[in-house]
Amino acid sequence: MRTKLCDLLGIDYPIVQGAMAWVADAKLASAVSNAGGIGIVGTGHDPVDVVQKKVEEVKALTDKPFGVNVMLLNPHVEEVVSYLCQAGIRLVTTGAGSPGKYMTAFQEAGIRVIPVVASVALAKRMERLGADAVVVEGMEAGGHIGKGTTMSLLPQVVDAVSIPVIAAGGIADGRGVAAALMLGAEGVQIGTRFVCSTESPAHENFKNAILKASDLSTIVTGELGGHPVRVLRNQLTREYAALEKAETSKETPDFAKMDELGRGALRRAVVLGDTQRGSMMSGQVAGLVKTVAPCKDIIEELVREAVEVYHARASYFNEGKS
Ligand SMILES: Cc1cc2nc3c(=O)[nH]c(=O)nc-3n(C[C@H](O)[C@H](O)[C@H](O)COP(=O)(O)O)c2cc1C
Repeated sequence: MRTKLCDLLGIDYPIVQGAMAWVADAKLASAVSNAGGIGIVGTGHDPVDVVQKKVEEVKALTDKPFGVNVMLLNPHVEEVVSYLCQAGIRLVTTGAGSPGKYMTAFQEAGIRVIPVVASVALAKRMERLGADAVVVEGMEAGGHIGKGTTMSLLPQVVDAVSIPVIAAGGIADGRGVAAALMLGAEGVQIGTRFVCSTESPAHENFKNAILKASDLSTIVTGELGGHPVRVLRNQLTREYAALEKAETSKETPDFAKMDELGRGALRRAVVLGDTQRGSMMSGQVAGLVKTVAPCKDIIEELVREAVEVYHARASYFNEGKS
């Protein structure tokens, strides 16, 4: 399985491990890169010294290409970008806004820039800015989401831009990979499946909650404040939903109360394993994840299954003569 994304990034398989706050550390990112995909280190609100430490850790664990996710709302973003531009990084993915201001600096440093987008308009804007590819994320995904689904949004973005498009949201097995490629993607970005990898630092309780999840186990909170997040249902989401319901009827909803409930909640789930009061960000594909396995096995299985499903279905497109 080789696509334009493999050539663009110098990787064996068109599989990107999504940035995940508290989860996407050096160990996880390097394991994905060593297995032939590309790992992305999350940096969230990190100050530059923490970013530097993470980058040095990944470099010590792999000599394969890896990426760094820059969260554009990070208060330290200027220093982080300056550091990354001289750190010999090959790829930056960006979230929470437009990387326009930093594009020239990244390009002069030879860094490929791949923003995460959730609409056709934003994808077109990123192409005009000089992005090397875009990640299109559907609302099936775990974490912060937009409004479109991968199935409907992906082909519309593929039609609208000529740079490679990477599909994210709702992909956890080879069937999902094959489907994304059929819809025109040059690669896939996967989050939830990698939370349940052996190398993922996520607490065992969080991994087990994903393993136990079914098709309807996730819920979207934060819509009232305009920052929807997909997570596994638990005590926290019930409290949050009740608060959102109560605040909806008010002329000026008390967003501070909701912020208070969500503060530090992802860390509570990932680091402390608090499955009741933690925010267990997870995609709708949680119901498909049934094992915790090494990244190498996950990636090999994704590729093997995608090839198998492609051949198994080829006859449908060939009047039965495949
Ligand atoms: C636990 C978790 C944390 C996440 N945190 C981030 C983040 O900090 N930044 C980001 O751009 N995306 C984040 N995401 C989204 C992933 O990078 C990825 O795009 C998404 O998980 C893909 O959908 P899937 O979960 O269906 O595989 C997160 C996802 C999960 C599951």
